[in-house]
Amino acid sequence: MELAEIRVRSKIPKAELDKKIGKILTEADYNIRLTGPTRVCTPDGKPLIVYLPGILSGQAHAEAYDILHTIRGKGSNRKNAGGAGGFMVNNRHMSANVSSNIIGSIDPIAAVPFCRTTAWTGNNTVAFQSLFPLFETIDATFAEYVPDRYSAQKARANSTHPDWLVGNTVYTTITVNNTFPTGVHTDSGDLDAGFSCLAVWRRGDYAGGHLTFPEWRVSVDLQDGDLMLMDAHHWHGNTALELHSEDAERISLVLYYRTKMISCDTVEEEADKAVIAKMRPMGGRAIWNGSGARPVEFPKMDTEAMNEAVITPEG
Ligand SMILES: [Fe+2]
Repeated sequence: MELAEIRVRSKIPKAELDKKIGKILTEADYNIRLTGPTRVCTPDGKPLIVYLPGILSGQAHAEAYDILHTIRGKGSNRKNAGGAGGFMVNNRHMSANVSSNIIGSIDPIAAVPFCRTTAWTGNNTVAFQSLFPLFETIDATFAEYVPDRYSAQKARANSTHPDWLVGNTVYTTITVNNTFPTGVHTDSGDLDAGFSCLAVWRRGDYAGGHLTFPEWRVSVDLQDGDLMLMDAHHWHGNTALELHSEDAERISLVLYYRTKMISCDTVEEEADKAVIAKMRPMGGRAIWNGSGARPVEFPKMDTEAMNEAVITPEG
C-alpha cells in the first residue's frame, strides 16, 4: 500500500492541551483528517501514525466480528436499545452498551500477584485461538510498515515465555472497546519502544468516534477493516459517538505488548504462585497458543475487577 507522508510541525500549547486531558474531543480539536493511506511523523521524524484503510477487509476480519461482538462488560447489553434507550454523555446520544475489556495476558498487580490470562480468555480458549490468524496478519502488517518498532517489540517477545504471547505475534494483550469513546489520555503499561496496533469493526449507522491526536491536531474516522499503527504514548482520544441506528456499533481492538510480561514464568509456575497467594483457581482454563506448555487449570479473574485494576490502552 502506497503511503502519503506527513510530518506534523507544531504542538498546541501545553496549557491548551492540559484542559483537554480526560475529555471527549470535538471536531474543533483537529485540522487534518486522514482519509487515505498515510504515514504521519513528528517533527523529529519519529513515526506517530501509520493509517492503512481497509487493509484488514476480508473473511477473517468479517468472521471475527461474531466473536468480538460478544465481548462485553457488565451493563453492556442492549436492554435500553429500543425506543428512548441509551443515555446522554457530553450532550450526545450514547448507547447503553459501552464497554472496555481486556483479552490475552496480564502481569501481576498488588492485589493479584501472579501473571494470568483474563477471564474471557480462559473461558473462551477456542474462540480466542480462532482469532490468531487475524492477529498474525496484523503482526505481519506491523512488521512491514513500522519495521524498527516491530524489531524492538519482537526482541522483547522473543525474551518472553511463549505461554503469554498471543499466537505467533509480538502481542501479549488486547483491549476490546465496544462503542466506547475515550477521553484524552496516553497509554501506559505497554512497551515504550514498541507500537500499538488498532483495528476497527463498524456496524449500523453512527457518526463520530474519530480517533484524534489533539496535540498534533490530526484525526482519523476509522472504517470497517481499517488498521492504524500508532505511538500510543502521544495524547489521543475520541470525539463523541452519535448513534443513529439500534445496531450501531464500533468495536476497536488495540493489540500491544505489556512491558512487565517479560518477568512472567511459565503458566504452571504462575498458577503455583496463585496457590501460594491463596487465590485458588475458580474454574478458569489456561489459554494455550499451540506451542510450548500444555494447558493447565489456571485462575481467572473477574473482568470488571480487571478493568478497575489496570490502565487499559485503547482508542
Ligand atoms: Fe489509548
